[in-house]
Amino acid sequence: MPTATIITGISELTTNDEELGKLAEAALVFEGQRISWVGPARDAPAADHRVDLEGRAVLPGWVDSHTHLVFAGDRTAEFTARMAGRPYTAGGIAETVRATRAATDAELAANLRAHLAEAVAQGTTCVETKTGYGLTVEDELRAARIAATEVDEVTCLGAHLVPPERAAEDYLDTVRGPMLDAVTPHVSWCDVFCERGAFDAEQSRRVLLAARERGLGLRVHGNQLERGPGVELAVELGAASVDHCTHLGAADIAALADSDTVATLLPACDLSTRQPLPPARELLDAGATVALASNCNPGSSYTSSMAFCVTTAVLQLRMTVDEAVRAATRGGAAALGRDGGDGAVGVLRPGARADVQALDAPSAAWLAYRPGVPLTHRVWRAGRPVR
Ligand code: NIG
Repeated sequence: MPTATIITGISELTTNDEELGKLAEAALVFEGQRISWVGPARDAPAADHRVDLEGRAVLPGWVDSHTHLVFAGDRTAEFTARMAGRPYTAGGIAETVRATRAATDAELAANLRAHLAEAVAQGTTCVETKTGYGLTVEDELRAARIAATEVDEVTCLGAHLVPPERAAEDYLDTVRGPMLDAVTPHVSWCDVFCERGAFDAEQSRRVLLAARERGLGLRVHGNQLERGPGVELAVELGAASVDHCTHLGAADIAALADSDTVATLLPACDLSTRQPLPPARELLDAGATVALASNCNPGSSYTSSMAFCVTTAVLQLRMTVDEAVRAATRGGAAALGRDGGDGAVGVLRPGARADVQALDAPSAAWLAYRPGVPLTHRVWRAGRPVR
């Protein structure tokens, strides 16, 4: 029998569960990797171990549903030039591709682990990451293999950019055939960068349909740099998420609200690329499911801080604290198809994975009330203390 740990002294418990809601003076019990009990502290059952948080807020660990962590090198010079006025064009991806291809497996794995450790220390307990800086069958396969040993969900983003040495149609044939064949045992998802300069709607559709034939779930990078067909395509194909959603028209918002496709917003990327901020308020008011993610990568968004994304969402995207916290936890879980059933993440209820963070604050509101202040106090991932 696994031992039971009870967490007490919770001033505010955000469960993200419809019935449990938000609790004051709460307690939470986990046994092994799963939560076994959640409720008012006065009703708590006995347990083997006790952790008293002395009046701190508890919420689900962050679910970071969009990162690009298999890479080498950095792009400080590109960032600095951008802050001096040069526009972001995604062309810098090719530089990271060069550095990533030149790195050894051990170097890529160590870099990935270092970024994951950084994220966990800030409360992130479930991570998706993508390939996409290899762009050959061999390099995408090794990225998928390395990622699969370290993160919860792996996505093939072979269709990130046409590599400089290949012609577009020829490269697409490689992605749709041998590349997807090679990576499918190691990934659950396929993503396409559907944007001018990357892949158009027709090319993106062909990649996604080939992925679907292999049983992979679908995601789309869409509407990042301008209005385009990404959202429409994601909704048409029933993709789990369309990520960025920076430039949306009324029809895009209505289509998302009328679908099960999650609109994943990446505000750290928009700030770092000097793009406008996405219409979060309009999406939420229309009824769309919204997720927040870091988009941690060396080019467009080099942060692993989900707290920064939540703070930005509240202060700049006009989301409430509850909406932003939910989007960074349960919203991300929905984007990864992990928000329901046994072992769900982004939610604290019996049967869910014991992914829990405690803030050095009496309520989650302090994430925005005290912007930039590191508030992570304790973190458990699948019941194991990781900070
Ligand atoms: O999500 N949009 C495409 N891919 C990444 C950018 C990666 C990069 O610039 O290296 C993104 O922002």
